[in-house]
Amino acid sequence: MLATPWSRSLGLRVPVVNAPMGGAAGGRLAAAVTAAGGLGMIGMGSAGSVAALERELALAGDTVFGIGLVDWVRQRESGLLDAAIAARPRALSISFGSDFSWVPVVQDAGILAITQVYDVPGAHRAQEAGIDVLVARGCEGGGHGADRLALLPLLDAVLDTATVPVLAAGGIGSGRTLAAVLAAGAAGAWLGTSLAAAEESLLPENARRAMLAADSTHTVVTTAFDETLDLPWPPIYPARVLRNDFTDPWSSPEPDEARPDADLLRTAIAADDATIAPVDAGQGVGLITHIEPAAAIVDRLCRNAATLLRR
Ligand SMILES: Cc1cc2nc3c(=O)[nH]c(=O)nc-3n(C[C@H](O)[C@H](O)[C@H](O)COP(=O)(O)O)c2cc1C
Repeated sequence: MLATPWSRSLGLRVPVVNAPMGGAAGGRLAAAVTAAGGLGMIGMGSAGSVAALERELALAGDTVFGIGLVDWVRQRESGLLDAAIAARPRALSISFGSDFSWVPVVQDAGILAITQVYDVPGAHRAQEAGIDVLVARGCEGGGHGADRLALLPLLDAVLDTATVPVLAAGGIGSGRTLAAVLAAGAAGAWLGTSLAAAEESLLPENARRAMLAADSTHTVVTTAFDETLDLPWPPIYPARVLRNDFTDPWSSPEPDEARPDADLLRTAIAADDATIAPVDAGQGVGLITHIEPAAAIVDRLCRNAATLLRR
């Protein structure tokens, strides 16, 4: 129905990869995306661990899948990279770092090495390290990433210089946006937000509801949560999240107002209180209107993109 040389080379029926979203993309979502013809990825975010990975791997069963790690979590959690490699994923992505020593280790195990980039120098560095696939991630995307370039100018520049396949990420949530990046020459799309509220996602109930209620102007790029929780995210990688009662005062505090404390935030996260807790989401969030299975989302996007591209 819709294919690129890259998706064909991997034996995928559609050129779609789900972003490895910590707290959303577990084994069930990955299996559903692979069953729909794409490549499902299991995401280990800030809270990633060997135990969490093993739990999600069990849910993925024997489908083909990929795994995505956060670089500082890979370095903190001993055994996590080894456990990911031992699971024999088709692809392993590690993002948000500058140390690419993992690339040959992953490739020696016959696994594709993937990373997200935000500008041309970053793409060059990853290619020099031997990366197999680049993800050009525009700043309209959800979750962590450099707040640098929007997807189309980024994709344009990276495709001009890249010698490896380039997946497009950031704000892709419709047949139109998918058709646009494929027409531009992307090898496929890396979908985060549009699949984060899918039926098979791990996202808790209130975070899902907040996503359904939000329109596309309702996101903000912030370090508020990471600073408050003292997480070692490099400051060049803030997160795009839904605006809420935590982000608004953070961006424009009243004079002398004390910054909210970590306990309040931890309690809100544990209670799935989306008015305070972080809900990662990109500017495509307004396109999510109801909860549906991942296969329905992937099928709709691909069918509509194919129709547009045929025109
Ligand atoms: C809920 C959510 C969680 C995410 N967690 C991760 C993660 O753990 N690791 C990662 O590499 N990227 C993560 N991302 C970012 C995605 O890899 C990707 O850059 C982004 O989702 C693309 O933009 P989009 O959300 O507009 O599709 C996350 C994104 C979302 C929406």
